[in-house]
Amino acid sequence: MSQRWTLLLLGLLAPSFSFASQSFENTAIVRTVELGGSLVHVTTTYAVKALEAGSSVYTIALEQQQKERTSWAEAKIKGQSNALELQDLGYDEESNTYLYDVHLPKALGTDASINLVFETVETHATYAWPPTARQEDEQKLKYNTSLFIISPYHTAVQRTKFKAPSNRVVAWSTPENLDAFTLENPVTKSGATITYGPYSNISPSANAAFIGAYQSTIGIHYFYDYPVLAISEYKRAAEISHWGANLNIEDEIHLRNAGPKLKGQFSRLAHQTQSFYQKSSPHVLSSMNLHLPAGISNAYFLDLNGNVSTSHLRSTPSVARNAKAPHYSLFEMKPRYPIMGGWNYSFTLGWDSPLADSGSWDAKAQKYVVAVPVMTLFPSTVIDNAELKIVLPEGATDVDVITPFPASVAAISNHVTYLDTTGRPTLNFYYKTLTDKHNQVVYVTYKVPFSAHLKKPLAVATAFMGLFTLALAGRRVNLSLHRKL
Ligand SMILES: *[C@@H]1O[C@H](CO)[C@@H](O)[C@H](O)[C@H]1NC(C)=O
Ligand SMILES: *[C@@H]1O[C@H](CO)[C@@H](O)[C@H](O)[C@H]1NC(C)=O
Ligand SMILES: *[C@@H]1O[C@H](CO)[C@@H](O)[C@H](O)[C@H]1NC(C)=O
Repeated sequence: MSQRWTLLLLGLLAPSFSFASQSFENTAIVRTVELGGSLVHVTTTYAVKALEAGSSVYTIALEQQQKERTSWAEAKIKGQSNALELQDLGYDEESNTYLYDVHLPKALGTDASINLVFETVETHATYAWPPTARQEDEQKLKYNTSLFIISPYHTAVQRTKFKAPSNRVVAWSTPENLDAFTLENPVTKSGATITYGPYSNISPSANAAFIGAYQSTIGIHYFYDYPVLAISEYKRAAEISHWGANLNIEDEIHLRNAGPKLKGQFSRLAHQTQSFYQKSSPHVLSSMNLHLPAGISNAYFLDLNGNVSTSHLRSTPSVARNAKAPHYSLFEMKPRYPIMGGWNYSFTLGWDSPLADSGSWDAKAQKYVVAVPVMTLFPSTVIDNAELKIVLPEGATDVDVITPFPASVAAISNHVTYLDTTGRPTLNFYYKTLTDKHNQVVYVTYKVPFSAHLKKPLAVATAFMGLFTLALAGRRVNLSLHRKL
């Protein structure tokens, strides 16, 4: 708590000041863009040199389009696993850009240098081009972004690398009039990588003057051999039952194939012929492998027409919490029919798991602790809107939560079912644009007054508490601000 407040106060005392008074130089910037479907991972490494002693706040700038696409951002020192405090300063009128302050663990002396890694996930940043495709056509996507990586500081040299999924790239832009920054070829392709730069001697660029004079948009048009998937709505209900020693999870999912829209009629025969020759169209979703927790039982997969019996679950028994082996059950999800570009598919996925796999009794706090995953990971898929509902045992009190990242809205209510007398406290979290980086857990702690007879099902797992503490230390959990609902 105190650390967070100190940072906030510093921010207040020195508003846009901190930016001008702390000077750095970028000795090199390398941006790597992993071209994908509905998710694009961007990693920018800043080799930074301090120009004066006591420099501890480095500012990163994004342009509007990049900022709007970014649903997750993290800064680290290269080679280290702990994330640095990253303060989102929002829109800066003076520079017409969006700023983040990265707080270095300790101030740098004059001429000291450091490598900062800034990682973001962009969502819905690509689009199918052409926007329609016949069943047997290939799938091509376009992605565009700004040519220059902008920064409030002078940059000695910078380059951007686009990594396409394969060596086959349809087309890419060739920027012009770059004589001020390079005398070489402004763009080169080698295998699946297209490199813009090196561009040298770039003056501070996070300002309207530089952007107006030099910035331009570059685009890459590439083949993408997997369906482009988006989940428009993801509703998870997690119900904790001490009587049954059970954690029940039910997911209601509206999946959309966001690839090129199907041109013409869908032909099952053509699809079967293609599948027979193992040449299934890249933009058609026929099946998907999902990792569900180990130890689950009573799994079900329903769509609007009922039980979907073509799917297959390979359940793995529950494992000790510190086991190294992969501990998940493999669910081969096979929709009732192949999902073509532009089609939606709504389904429900549910299962039971032993409460002891995710819950324990914290003797010190005299509270139960249950870890509830925010979502099931759907590979390379963005979730536009998510709701996580956690239903606690009847009469639970002293409810606290520790969330891995802030929700857009959080609320607590009382859920009364016909068996209950006092109702079950219910937590609701709403999220926007979740990605693979958000596949984390919410910890809920609570007391149950009649603990004497309820305690039985939850074995006291001291080892788990150790792990739990470690997990917290390793994350950027803001205990103070999101704790109380
Ligand atoms: C860049 O991509 C966006 C979609 O993300 C699109 O709306 C826009 O027209 C593209 N801009 C250019 C200059 O191609
Ligand atoms: C639903 O389908 C699964 C196969 O995925 C099958 O094992 C199960 O018995 C079916 N359930 C019902 C109620 O038909
Ligand atoms: C699919 O769902 C989206 C909203 O998620 C909706 O806008 C669209 O019209 C739906 N498409 C079809 C073909 O039903």
